Amino acid sequence: MVVVNSPSSQTLRADASTQGASSAIAVHNLGMQLPAGQHLITILQTISFTIPTGQIVAIMGPSGSGKSTLLGLMAGLDRPTAGSIVIQGTDITTLNESEMARFRRSHIGYVFQAFHLIPTLTALENVLLPLELQGRSQGKDRAQALLQSVGLEHRLHHYPIQLSGGEQQRVALARAFISQPSILFADEPTGNLDSQTGERIIELLWQLHQEHGSTLVLVTHDPSLAKQAPRILTLRDGHLIADSDHHPETHFS
Ligand SMILES: Nc1ncnc2c1ncn2[C@@H]1O[C@H](COP(=O)(O)OP(=O)(O)OP(=O)(O)O)[C@@H](O)[C@H]1O
Ligand SMILES: [Mg+2]
Repeated sequence: MVVVNSPSSQTLRADASTQGASSAIAVHNLGMQLPAGQHLITILQTISFTIPTGQIVAIMGPSGSGKSTLLGLMAGLDRPTAGSIVIQGTDITTLNESEMARFRRSHIGYVFQAFHLIPTLTALENVLLPLELQGRSQGKDRAQALLQSVGLEHRLHHYPIQLSGGEQQRVALARAFISQPSILFADEPTGNLDSQTGERIIELLWQLHQEHGSTLVLVTHDPSLAKQAPRILTLRDGHLIADSDHHPETHFS
């Protein structure tokens, strides 16, 4: 394990972030403060790291340490109050709302911790939505195949309210995969699943990575998922406290 808050390694990582154009993600001196009553609270502080294209990275850390906030910032769902985030050569902190939305649609898949399915659309329609937003009418077969691969072939026409939490999570995963994003962010993708379904989701993630060279950034508390990621970033109290490379038990990359 490499502890990153020594001066020499911090310098190394800051240097690496200037190579943002050749990496999938380069985060430099990222900070996030939010108002809480009369005060500003610091949620993330001086975070820097670079993720090469095609790498699988797990983000771990205690509840409240800033994992979802960091993931949302990297996916352009929110704006940081300090620092830069360069995704495939574009500093997304400089994009306006509509540029950001377009960038997200063409590069990024995101699985929310709270699923965020559209309640008035069926499972199948939810999965097809990203393609429709891109103006693509094809894809029903692929959407069905994806729902089948997450074990939901018998729930295609159910609405989110008619699905269990784990089933909603699997629909959210299928939706994130439909446009074959070059970067997939997933917030606790196996968090609400039994171990067998969790394994199936890990296999799907692995497949996306293998077939499309997708970069995967996964927030997880799940040791069986984390141990298969070749790199783990650890947050505590809004700081990046460790950046470890290790050999995964199975060949996940
Ligand atoms: N909009 C907000 N306004 C104020 N504080 C916020 C806001 N969003 C998050 N926070 C705070 O920021 C901290 C980090 O939240 P975050 O959701 O990133 O944590 P997390 O590491 O994902 O936790 P968990 O493992 O429980 O999902 C928490 O203390 C949370 O209360
Ligand atoms: Mg979270």
